[in-house]
Amino acid sequence: MKAPVRVAVTGAAGQIGYSLLFRIASGEMLGKDQPVILQMLEIPNEKAQQALQGVMMELEDCAFPLLAGMVGTDDAMVAFKDADYALLVGARPRGPGMERADLLSANAEIFTAQGKALNAVASRDVKVLVVGNPANTNAYIAMKSAPDLPAGNFTAMLRLDHNRAASQIAAKTGKPVSAIKTLTVWGNHSPTMYADYRFATIGGESVKEMIGDEAWNRDVFLPTVGKRGAAIIAARGLSSAASAANAAIDHMRDWALGTNGEWVTMGIPSDGSYGIPEGVMYGFPVTCENGKYTIVQGLEIDEFSRERMNVTLNELEEERAAVAHLLA
Ligand code: NAI
Repeated sequence: MKAPVRVAVTGAAGQIGYSLLFRIASGEMLGKDQPVILQMLEIPNEKAQQALQGVMMELEDCAFPLLAGMVGTDDAMVAFKDADYALLVGARPRGPGMERADLLSANAEIFTAQGKALNAVASRDVKVLVVGNPANTNAYIAMKSAPDLPAGNFTAMLRLDHNRAASQIAAKTGKPVSAIKTLTVWGNHSPTMYADYRFATIGGESVKEMIGDEAWNRDVFLPTVGKRGAAIIAARGLSSAASAANAAIDHMRDWALGTNGEWVTMGIPSDGSYGIPEGVMYGFPVTCENGKYTIVQGLEIDEFSRERMNVTLNELEEERAAVAHLLA
């Protein structure tokens, strides 16, 4: 059996936490031969800490053979100590009367502090996934607050958007979702994201040709994927949690264990590829191998795509400008 690795999860007593922790402990994220120590962070509030204790009692009661230890805490320095993986799920939701700028700065405070704590105590190889919204900008803030860690260790979750796009294409073509290859979602995890199936294939055939309907792409597919989060809130009365946790598992598993040449979407700091300015936390098509991701290169960007990629880039740059004074 391998030596245990440390997995930090913030917002551990929340909705996504409740769908996520049990799957990590059962080996779905890092493999059935990889023991894990869960280091769970919640806010220093009696109710949240009590709820976290309840989650830990349930984790105990699952008697997971791979769960080699647990820590529940309200201190980021404890939660991130020697962490090999960190899933930053906890974030400040938008409250009544809260403007977008207030939301950005409330979260900037959280992710500045958590970036600093990761910088101080996490493993130098820590793989960080930010799920808490606004995910790309929160990941950018954490990255900027951790100057001693490689910037490439910080990622944002676009995988739920990728999975949503894949299942819409499966429904449209009547093909199994597992058959869809080389799909991607560019940009911000927000309704401006650009889900792009121009390069996607099913059994070697072009998805674009199979669908052959640009109006469907523009008027049905893109709005459906972009507004799926809102549609789930409208239907369920609660935001997507199980599918978000599932996407977090997919993102981390693929990053850690590799994709065997298949494309996945990750929000990562741009290296300047496709004209996206360096450092912007942007969704790109990547492949993963040996714990590293590589941006898929050489894709043609047509006029429609460039326009969509710029819309989502502009939104990210606006978000970045809104928090710039907090990072100075
Ligand atoms: P939730 O409200 O059920 O749980 C969030 C938990 O985080 C709460 O228990 C809260 O006490 C905790 N928390 C807040 N600030 C914290 C901090 N500074 N440190 C540690 N814990 C903290 O929310 P839910 O449904 O679990 O969603 C969590 C986040 O994930 C939200 O920001 C949501 O918008 C986002 N999300 C992102 C998705 C993506 O695709 N990137 C998809 C779905 C949700």
